[in-house]
Amino acid sequence: MAFSFFFRDLPTLDTAVQHMVAQTMGRSRIRVWVAGSAKGQEVYTLAMLLAEKMGYFSFQNLRIEATDIEAEFGEIIRRGIYPKAELERIPQPYFDRYFQPTEQEGCFQVIEPIRRRVTFTHHDLLSLNPIGDGFSLIVCKNVLLHFQPAERVEVFKMFHRSLATDSILANEHTQKLPAEVVPLFQQVASDAQVYRKVSLHA
Ligand SMILES: C[S@@+](CC[C@H](N)C(=O)[O-])C[C@H]1O[C@@H](n2cnc3c(N)ncnc32)[C@H](O)[C@@H]1O
Repeated sequence: MAFSFFFRDLPTLDTAVQHMVAQTMGRSRIRVWVAGSAKGQEVYTLAMLLAEKMGYFSFQNLRIEATDIEAEFGEIIRRGIYPKAELERIPQPYFDRYFQPTEQEGCFQVIEPIRRRVTFTHHDLLSLNPIGDGFSLIVCKNVLLHFQPAERVEVFKMFHRSLATDSILANEHTQKLPAEVVPLFQQVASDAQVYRKVSLHA
């Protein structure tokens, strides 16, 4: 099910952004992966938070890669057009800054400088083939709860391999890490499921 909404679980996203931005300061190429992105509400929320936190120039170095098993969500994300009823939870300053009216009555579009930073790829997490590596942040929320426990463990291991050294993973606040992968991540805040990659040395 693709239930999602803008500014969902803001404290987790805020914590993740704060730690990622501190970690990537001064870098010229920053990759973020939002896995199980549904119709784009989460990935665009994250992009807006990052635009605020990083500032104009650093934000241009960012590439946010949204993925979902539902390929048709790609077109919805690329267009970034949503009915006003879906945008009610967005704080007014964000709505004013990052949305523009469209020719479709009652619909608004995410502005182009934000859309330009976001790409979409059709991807099945259970393939266990990551879309790349060197990610500074991976956000995967409200997806893994539908998987079998053993599958969850393998997906967390894939995320660990895909993250750059010391980079950040964000999970939904109701989900704890499976015991098998606890050694791979260090929680960065006691009140959020946000973790820093622990590098394992042979
Ligand atoms: C409940 S929505 C969560 C959306 C968003 N992450 C959030 O927290 O609001 C779950 C999403 O996971 C996607 N999904 C389910 N199984 C998946 C899989 N094996 N690989 C990738 N995405 C999957 C669904 O298509 C859906 O869009």
